[in-house]
Amino acid sequence: MFGARCLLRALRFCFSAPCPRHKPSAKLSVRDALRAQNASGERVKVQGWIRSVRSQKEVLFLHVNDGTSLESLQVVADSSFDSRELAFGSSVKVQGQLVKSPSKRQNVELKAEKIEVVGDCDAKDFPLKYKERHPMEYLRQYPHLRCRTNVLGSILRVRSEATAAIHSFFKPSSKIKVPEENFFNIPAFLTVSGQLHLEVMSGAFTQVFTFGPTFRAENSQSRRHLAEFYMVEAEISFLENLQDLMQVMEGLFKTTTTTVLSNCPEDVELCHKFIAPGQKDRLEHMLKNNFLIISYTEAVEILKQASQNFTFCPEWGADLHTEHEKYLVKHCGNMPVFVINYPLKLKPFYMRDNEDSPQHTVAAVDLLVPGVGELFGGSLREERYHFLEQQLARSGLTEAYQWYLDLRRFGSVPHGGFGMGFERYLQCILGIDNIKDVIPFPRFTHSCLL
Ligand code: 4AD
Ligand code: MG
Repeated sequence: MFGARCLLRALRFCFSAPCPRHKPSAKLSVRDALRAQNASGERVKVQGWIRSVRSQKEVLFLHVNDGTSLESLQVVADSSFDSRELAFGSSVKVQGQLVKSPSKRQNVELKAEKIEVVGDCDAKDFPLKYKERHPMEYLRQYPHLRCRTNVLGSILRVRSEATAAIHSFFKPSSKIKVPEENFFNIPAFLTVSGQLHLEVMSGAFTQVFTFGPTFRAENSQSRRHLAEFYMVEAEISFLENLQDLMQVMEGLFKTTTTTVLSNCPEDVELCHKFIAPGQKDRLEHMLKNNFLIISYTEAVEILKQASQNFTFCPEWGADLHTEHEKYLVKHCGNMPVFVINYPLKLKPFYMRDNEDSPQHTVAAVDLLVPGVGELFGGSLREERYHFLEQQLARSGLTEAYQWYLDLRRFGSVPHGGFGMGFERYLQCILGIDNIKDVIPFPRFTHSCLL
């Protein structure tokens, strides 16, 4: 909380140029101004964008927002300040006294002594209209402006908070973050996953993670695919079973979400209230209960027995489609469900062979969640040289992956890891239908607006 003492400290450290009539003003963010307890006329300076203007006979009320909180700061000014430039969307610097508000609607307000319009905003041309709740589809046309709306502001603050929470989930147990890569002087490709390089690092550091942009030439305009998305990936050495891996996956989901809920409750509430009614309860249900586990073989059996008619007929050996994922999550009481042990033929060469028969599987795991479908993909990795050699030969990759085979020649250990789609994670906790609304600049097939 930003109490009187903090306010004084801010005043001492954040001097702006002295104003001839008054003591220097401390620059405050809207968030810190709103949190001031016992405000009693401290001189402060706030800067931001006007979210609303209400002009009465003798007073002018402005709401100023600088992106640090969902709530805006009420500025109360003498009507002599009124001007055409003080309009919705204009950027302003306001200097004045922070006082307790007589109204119950806010704790504090700023009594303006000086208002400077930094950049005016022509309401006629401005695509965002005052007091209008624009549909998400409309806002998507303005990736350069939409972050100024309440809803995008909230989503992006949650995104930022979740990013920090993910970093601190991995940090305390001395997990090493591997930087995203650059390629020089050789044919270079955008990465579809940092996994293989994480595996290199996991040969020296037992727990590593990376969190950065990932690129896929997905020819899909679906509400859960992007060409550029962010992925959180982790790799853990000396890990011998899927159970231990799933525990980390579930822990990452639950710890990050709990942190986000406690650090930005208003932003989450806005989404739950206006965009996804019922999502609050659904999320609580997910956090309170253990995630479920079924095998791929069981999943196919469940689908085969379903009364629903699927477009793609479920059968052992075939991929699970979105319609199947949806059904399985519903079948599991709308709880996240781990699907494990997929057919070897469906999965990449690096997944660990379960050596079972007649239905030959690998130790793979996907986590399916309500509303989104697949959120995590992971596996135990094939750490045995001869198994991996055979798989590489089958895939025609032996030559290119000698370095990867080397990892199995020199001090190989059982290990496993996973990747979580960060945008899908945000969709899942906030109940946002379209992935394009949880990333500032969505890039997908045939669309790269910014
Ligand atoms: O299941 P995927 O493809 O897993 C991997 O890439 C592994 N190599 C990760 C690892 O084990 N280190 O991708 C992981 C997750 C998916 O479950 C999904 O949530 C997300 O990344 N994802 C996408 N998100 C948005 N747009 C796309 N086109 C995505 N493709 C995958
Ligand atoms: Mg996958």
